[in-house]
Amino acid sequence: MRVGLLGLGRIGEFHAATLSSLVDELVVSDADAARVAAVAEKYGATTGDPFDADAVVIATPTSTHAELLIRACDKGVPAFCEKPAAPTVGETLEVVDAVERSGTMVHIGFQRRFDAGYTAARQALLDGELGDLHRVHMLTGDPAPPPAGYVAQSGGIFRDCHIHDFDILRWVTGREVETVYAIGSNRGADFFAAAGDVDNSAAVLTLDDGTLVTMQGSRYNGNGYDVRMELAGTRATWAVGLSARSPLHSADGLTPHGDPWPDFQTRFEDAYVAEMGAFLAAARGERESPCTARDALAALYLAEAADLSHREGRPVALREVTA
Ligand SMILES: NC(=O)c1ccc[n+]([C@@H]2O[C@H](COP(=O)([O-])OP(=O)(O)OC[C@H]3O[C@@H](n4cnc5c(N)ncnc54)[C@H](O)[C@@H]3O)[C@@H](O)[C@H]2O)c1
Repeated sequence: MRVGLLGLGRIGEFHAATLSSLVDELVVSDADAARVAAVAEKYGATTGDPFDADAVVIATPTSTHAELLIRACDKGVPAFCEKPAAPTVGETLEVVDAVERSGTMVHIGFQRRFDAGYTAARQALLDGELGDLHRVHMLTGDPAPPPAGYVAQSGGIFRDCHIHDFDILRWVTGREVETVYAIGSNRGADFFAAAGDVDNSAAVLTLDDGTLVTMQGSRYNGNGYDVRMELAGTRATWAVGLSARSPLHSADGLTPHGDPWPDFQTRFEDAYVAEMGAFLAAARGERESPCTARDALAALYLAEAADLSHREGRPVALREVTA
């Protein structure tokens, strides 16, 4: 396969490394010509029009995603795009429309769907091993805050960070969220508040079968990168992300003994690689899109509801933002 890759920054270079061993020809592109030259040389890639290919991978900043996805649809080129599909609901709806009108295979990059732990927990739930699911707890802790400039254009912690929790909640449980009540606090750098954002977050959600969900997030989880989920059912409780590398100290002596996960790249390395393999299989028509533009829209609606709830200090029914 000849595959184009747009955007060679933090995540784009990681995808370049993966793709270079999976495809016949990798065509790299970036707004920064020096990045293009460096990445092309490092991974034996060529340069040129990334849309002149059998498939395209989009890893540019979020503000560019909708335009590039719509271009891929217009050209009928199967596309992978890093999350989110677009920064706003309006643009995401335009992407959904372009995808569904053109019939182009589009895969949005929520890599937790390819993590071994989440995959096993989802299967156990489907197989009835947990019994009836009654409660879920989710946690995403970044070890250190992103730069001020990133925060200012990120859309806030619910759209930028918790969007992964919202997607994986729907995927693992197979349920939809009905209500969200979200709160946040500013305990760290002033630039979070200046951007209208928070650096710690919590939320209570209810699913359409009555399952209760709690969620926490932090930009100051100093001991490492902590992403976990607990699923409590009538027969068993499963934990995802509780491992020897969890950045967690147990007061009861069950202290994980490995190096704590330092960042998302190492925590989800295997998932990112599996995700790219699945995308290429979908681009060849061997499977359906593992995460559609409509899935991305559903996750964004949850982020919108959480953001509205936090700003207005009240529970928000999902239908308020989807109407
Ligand atoms: N799935 C995940 O866990 C995950 C992790 C990190 C980032 N992301 C997403 O990936 C995207 C990129 O994030 P990043 O942290 O790699 O950003 P980055 O700023 O490190 O890299 C972006 C790159 O895109 C280039 N670029 C900008 N505009 C371009 C254009 N129009 N055409 C071609 N190249 C262009 C820039 O020069 C830069 O090299 C974001 O949407 C982000 O939300 C997802």
